[in-house]
Amino acid sequence: MSEERVAALRNRWFTTSIGITAAITLVGFVVGFLWLPLSHPSDRFRGAWDAICSAAGLLNKPSSSEQIVTANYPTTRVEVIPHMLDSADAVSIGRGATLALRCTMCHGARGLSQANSPNLAGQYPIVIYKQLMDFKTGARGSAVMAPLVADLTASDMRDLAAYYAYLPRITDSGTGRSMPRIVASGAPLRGIAPCGACHGEVGAKAGAAWLEGQPVAYLHTQLEAFASNARHNDIDEQMRNVARAMTPQEIDAASRYYAEHP
Ligand code: HEC
Ligand code: HEC
Repeated sequence: MSEERVAALRNRWFTTSIGITAAITLVGFVVGFLWLPLSHPSDRFRGAWDAICSAAGLLNKPSSSEQIVTANYPTTRVEVIPHMLDSADAVSIGRGATLALRCTMCHGARGLSQANSPNLAGQYPIVIYKQLMDFKTGARGSAVMAPLVADLTASDMRDLAAYYAYLPRITDSGTGRSMPRIVASGAPLRGIAPCGACHGEVGAKAGAAWLEGQPVAYLHTQLEAFASNARHNDIDEQMRNVARAMTPQEIDAASRYYAEHP
């Protein structure tokens, strides 16, 4: 038996294995942090350090403004905060009712449309306010709505939102159509969450509209408009990302389901 210690520099086996391990680590580092990132065709790095940081998952702030891509169309300027318009008083609702007299032609006397315009009765106040603001700034284009909101102030819009939110929604017509798969469970492989995760009673995302009972033609048009980017006022493209990934059959099924399920 040799008295020699294993972990000693004189032990040739020890130094060789340490050397091999170090070499593998170094090669792994160069391949993983430099070679692979730099050879990735879609990424542009400003030098080796940039590539290393990116491979390590560290976000790099762009140093020049040219790297920030801005949309070449108006986007929404409304910041949506949950519960931001929840506490309306009777005065605001009353003022809203007066202002709403010029909306009844299309949106109905009690906020329920007979003419394929969206129903507004019982809609979340944030949604009404945000959409009116977006029509005014041009973030949501509509030849019909744009002239109607041109002279509304932010406070008028809050009053209109309070009034419509206060009106009762349509009650259940009980058609009993079963929930299509796209609505019930989304399409996880295509990154679509169930609609109800944002539009439901439970998982209501601030700014996402109450959809039940809207005219089927309206729902259909909106989904197609989001998919084609013709409507682009959704914050962070939340709704466009969903609509783009939907098939025409799914758009059909979801529109029918929501239209028939007040
Ligand atoms: C001449 C018909 C007409 C009149 C009058 C009208 N609207 Fe509209 N409104 C529409 C149509 C059509 C749309 C759907 C626009 C689209 O397709 O993007 C709409 C959309 C809306 C939306 C968006 C609803 C949603 O769920 O996204 C709101 C809010 C709204 N109108 C409020 C009003 C208010 C408030 C008034 C009165 C000041 C008014 N409208 C007057 C036709 C009208
Ligand atoms: C990640 C959350 C999210 C999911 C999931 C989602 N939506 Fe939306 N949706 C939104 C938001 C937010 C808006 C409001 C966009 C805006 O600000 O104008 C919206 C708007 C809409 C509108 C327009 C409503 C109106 O009156 O203006 C329709 C129609 C719609 N969604 C249908 C669907 C359907 C159908 C599904 C399921 C296939 C779905 N959404 C899934 C977040 C979502």
